[in-house]
Amino acid sequence: MGTTAVSESFFSHPCVDGVELVLRDLSTTVEMHELTVANIERLRRWEQWAQPEPTLPRTFEYTRRRLDDFTAGAMLPCAIRVDGALVGSVELCIDTGTSTSELGVWVDAGAEGRGIARAACEAVLDHAFGPGRLQRVEARIATINVRSRRLAEQLGFTLEGTLRSACLVGADRQDLAVYGLIAEEWAAQGDGEARAAA
Ligand SMILES: CC(C)(COP(=O)(O)OP(=O)(O)OC[C@H]1O[C@@H](n2cnc3c(N)ncnc32)[C@H](O)[C@@H]1OP(=O)(O)O)[C@@H](O)C(=O)NCCC(=O)NCCS
Repeated sequence: MGTTAVSESFFSHPCVDGVELVLRDLSTTVEMHELTVANIERLRRWEQWAQPEPTLPRTFEYTRRRLDDFTAGAMLPCAIRVDGALVGSVELCIDTGTSTSELGVWVDAGAEGRGIARAACEAVLDHAFGPGRLQRVEARIATINVRSRRLAEQLGFTLEGTLRSACLVGADRQDLAVYGLIAEEWAAQGDGEARAAA
């Protein structure tokens, strides 16, 4: 997994007050793996990818595939860092053919309820909806995942419909809420300060 400290801190994107996004490259693998293990029971409740036992080789392979997709322009995989420590993940899965994408985010239990996930998503959405980039971002959330739905709604996503029994997490099937946000709506919300005041 040989990476050097040179690349580690060079590519970072500041959000707010000590929160920054870094590319989820191989230098983040061990710390991200430890964070995943620490949160695995919470994540298993909502995320299909969290169902198998997390192992370092699996996290390494997952990261490597994400980087391949990033290189192809089909993924923006970011780790969320607060005061130098990784606290979560935010990523966009991109369909370049339609200029649409799907947003995914999770944070450590200790980082929840502090606006960190929101700040990270706002930074990604600002980038995604930049000139000539994406037209639509989607969030697909189990209807019973109240916390995640609240985040989507605070970000300005519109609930567009519910796909019945479409969400499979482990052996559990749930209804899936489909949220959408389009470029014009994001632009109309203004910058971060205007959004926070809204
Ligand atoms: C979904 C998830 C990312 C939401 O994280 P979150 O921390 O609740 O989201 P936010 O960053 O928007 O934080 C909102 C909370 O921070 C508080 N907050 C504090 N300071 C804030 C600030 N400056 N700005 C915004 N909110 C702030 C808000 O009041 C709110 O508190 P509340 O939840 O008690 O009402 C998180 O619950 C998670 O990781 N869940 C497990 C995985 C998961 O469900 N992923 C999504 C699958 S679709």
